[in-house]
Amino acid sequence: MGSIPPAGTIHSKSAVYPPPNQPLVPEETAKVRNWIADADSIAVLTGAGISAESGVPTFRGGGGLWRNFRPEDLATPQAFARDPQVVWEWYDWRRGLVAKARPNRGHQTLAELEKRTTKFTLITQNVDGLHDLAGSKNILKLHGDIWQIRCTRCEKSWQDRSVPLEKVPPQCDCGALARPDIVWFGEPLPAGVWSRARQSVQSAQLLFVIGTSGLVYPAANLVPLALERRAKVVEINPETTPFSENVDCALSGPAGEILPRLLSV
Ligand code: OAD
Repeated sequence: MGSIPPAGTIHSKSAVYPPPNQPLVPEETAKVRNWIADADSIAVLTGAGISAESGVPTFRGGGGLWRNFRPEDLATPQAFARDPQVVWEWYDWRRGLVAKARPNRGHQTLAELEKRTTKFTLITQNVDGLHDLAGSKNILKLHGDIWQIRCTRCEKSWQDRSVPLEKVPPQCDCGALARPDIVWFGEPLPAGVWSRARQSVQSAQLLFVIGTSGLVYPAANLVPLALERRAKVVEINPETTPFSENVDCALSGPAGEILPRLLSV
């Protein structure tokens, strides 16, 4: 990724629009709607914020999971090697939260956008499966899936939607300890998924960046990659992020409110 200039070196600065707590004005809506209408190829990068309105906690910011838990205790291979029971108890608790959540209007609008677009790729950092439930089809899960479990010995991976899990920590048929099939800090992204994500951003005319703090790499590299390719980049987030000043349009507000207005759904 060394050849990609850092965000901020490509586009002139644009103000975050609308200012927080101000309504989205018709011109901004019209501008982005035109970009959607003109684009044959759209990529979307989502983060925890798209599921916030479904009641799934984000990681950073007020109420974020990393306020109360340390990632190095729960979301690293070292933590799992040290205490698989504790790590699994945390995932079992999160599976319980996610099981109660339903897709919100943000997830639903993205599923509708996919139907209306010739080439559409939804790249998500989320493991909650809410994009699948909303009906999105072409999904690239950069960080895995909270409902998938993987054997630490034979690498078999299987789906288990039981809440709570029957046995913590779960085991594989081969008798070995199983782990969440999730990418932890310090682990590489699944190679095929990452290269397809890069390709879809490189060929996209329009990239939406929705509900991500932009602090976790390599996922965050997709934004400068799109800017370098001169794709239009639209951010949707109630807070400013490292991308906000460099994107073509930064829409400040909750995804579940802003996305339906862009598509009139
Ligand atoms: P973060 O928790 O870092 O950021 C969530 C973002 O969502 C913030 O920028 C919020 O302002 C924004 N947000 C909150 N409510 C929103 C709403 N209703 N609509 C739109 N945006 C909203 O989550 P991620 O950026 O996804 O990794 O975090 C990236 C990775 O860090 C996660 O995938 C996870 C975490 O550690 C792993 O588990 C490997």
